[in-house]
Amino acid sequence: MSMAFLRSDLLQLTAYSSHPGKDGHRTTGPMDQLDTNECPYDLPLHLKAKLATATHGLAANRYPDGAYLELKAAIAEYANESSQLPGQFTATNVTVGNGSDELIRSLLIVTCLGGQGSILVAHPTFSMYAILARTLGIPVVTLDRHPEDFAINLEAAQRVIDHPEDVPVRVVFMVHPNSPTGNGLTPQELAWLKQLPENILVVVDEAYFEFSQQTTLPEISRQPNWIVLRTFSKAFRLAAYRIGYGLAQPGLVATLEKVRLPYNLPAIAQIAASLALAHRQELLAIIPEIQQQRQWLLSGLGNQTPLLAWPSLANFIYARPQGQPTAMADDLDGWFDYLKGMGTLIRNTGGGLRITIGSPAENQRTLHRIQSRPLE
Ligand SMILES: Cc1ncc(COP(=O)(O)O)c(C=O)c1O
Repeated sequence: MSMAFLRSDLLQLTAYSSHPGKDGHRTTGPMDQLDTNECPYDLPLHLKAKLATATHGLAANRYPDGAYLELKAAIAEYANESSQLPGQFTATNVTVGNGSDELIRSLLIVTCLGGQGSILVAHPTFSMYAILARTLGIPVVTLDRHPEDFAINLEAAQRVIDHPEDVPVRVVFMVHPNSPTGNGLTPQELAWLKQLPENILVVVDEAYFEFSQQTTLPEISRQPNWIVLRTFSKAFRLAAYRIGYGLAQPGLVATLEKVRLPYNLPAIAQIAASLALAHRQELLAIIPEIQQQRQWLLSGLGNQTPLLAWPSLANFIYARPQGQPTAMADDLDGWFDYLKGMGTLIRNTGGGLRITIGSPAENQRTLHRIQSRPLE
């Protein structure tokens, strides 16, 4: 079948799969899903009941409120609370997306599309920046992080900015804390980002903020070229509903509105996000448990297992097999397949294994399975 109408550059791309190992065979019994960094706990039943009642009352034949003002105001209030800067944000600082993935695409559209610029990412990092850029024909400049502490070589980064290969860098994407490696931005990296000229947009993706409690939100009042992305998919337990948001100065928010699809958030997603924010104390009360479990798993992995694991500020841990880096790709596949065969699904990404912190029972199974892998 000829599809000569398609852009030729798309032929080399493959569709994104967040569960590359999920299809294919798996063992019987429940699988521990520790591969996509969700919260291990579903919404409490009383909130599900509230959501069901609200859904029942929805006029299904009517479009949702497309301005999302109530939700935006609630997000602004939460942002003020979480940055401890009362009154800094209002609804005019907030943009909402069908997951923060949608906002990443919108940001690419308003900055780099049509040969206007390239993006800079530090590998390994969240893959969607490069994937979405390539679908839009936007060049991606990739810098490798230090293999041991995942720091960015800032001199190399500055060289890329000063001497672009092709089109200038228009956006720098940073995750804070980074996925899959779990490290936060260092003071040097932050200082470098802050001094970037205003014709470069700095995107700080704080998808895992609730687990790290570190934020760059205070920068937004100082920098018109700064946007913080966050999501309801992780700590707020709403991955199924697809809600992300961005916080920036009103000028950038208004521009993002121009490219947003009308009604990009279904009514039910709006209700779910508002409900989660209204009950945030209850939902976020599990954060200390996740942090404590993260420490428990890290200590366990450090206790004579074949894996080397790094401290993390997020709800996942990055690990690599101890030993020779040359055997790495096969070793990583081996670990992924072994754990999947035992009933634990993790992610083999960015030259390592990313293991989401699950419930205490899941984490115990993970550690036990890693410890009891037969030696070849
Ligand atoms: C760093 C980062 N940003 C964004 C996302 C996507 O979040 P959303 O579900 O809001 O699209 C993820 C999901 O794993 C992530 O790890």
